[in-house]
Amino acid sequence: MSNTIEIRESVETDAAEIGSLYPKAFPDEDLLPLVRELLQDATITVSLVGVADSQIAGHVLFTRCGVVGSSIKASLLGPLAVAPEWQRRGVGSALVRAGLQRLREEEVDVVCVLGDPRYYGRHGFEQESRIEPPFRLPPEWSSAWQSRYLDDTMAPCSGRLAVPVQWQQPALWAP
Ligand SMILES: CC(C)(COP(=O)(O)OP(=O)(O)OC[C@H]1O[C@@H](n2cnc3c(N)ncnc32)[C@H](O)[C@@H]1OP(=O)(O)O)[C@@H](O)C(=O)NCCC(=O)NCCS
Repeated sequence: MSNTIEIRESVETDAAEIGSLYPKAFPDEDLLPLVRELLQDATITVSLVGVADSQIAGHVLFTRCGVVGSSIKASLLGPLAVAPEWQRRGVGSALVRAGLQRLREEEVDVVCVLGDPRYYGRHGFEQESRIEPPFRLPPEWSSAWQSRYLDDTMAPCSGRLAVPVQWQQPALWAP
């Protein structure tokens, strides 16, 4: 196994490999329909793959969003998937770091994520209580709703995250 991971934007011909990655990374959850829908609209997503040994070892999506009542530029991180044989080798972290850098260049203000705080806390994400998720989360998930401001000097903003139609499915926001 190579120790070199290349992070690049995904291209259409990556679809089959991305399609086989998700069921391996998420055996109990079918995220592929969401991923495929999001990938169809390149204007709203940043899609990065981590390539190792000429194969796609990981993938991450960031979706452009807004916050209702605000002009802030927001992004929603997810899904993030790393192939089991490549997990704990830095692929996920490299994808998150590269994505945040890319969003900084696009002058995105804040990135939200619904995920494990023990993982995203490593990347500077903190529990978010002012920006609300698009659907009410179960109380036990409140610490999983997190954000990271890309400009530390920015005043926190409040309001509901406005997500594109692909994310407007309550099932994506419930256990
Ligand atoms: C979670 C996931 C994306 C992490 O990617 P990765 O490439 O394996 O992680 P990295 O190598 O960048 O980081 C590894 C570190 O994060 C920790 N870590 C990995 N997954 C974690 C998790 N779910 N919770 C807490 N810590 C986690 C590891 O313990 C490791 O720490 P160490 O270096 O101190 O041992 C990947 O394991 C994965 O795809 N898992 C299945 C799908 C999933 O759960 N995705 C959603 C993420 S919330």
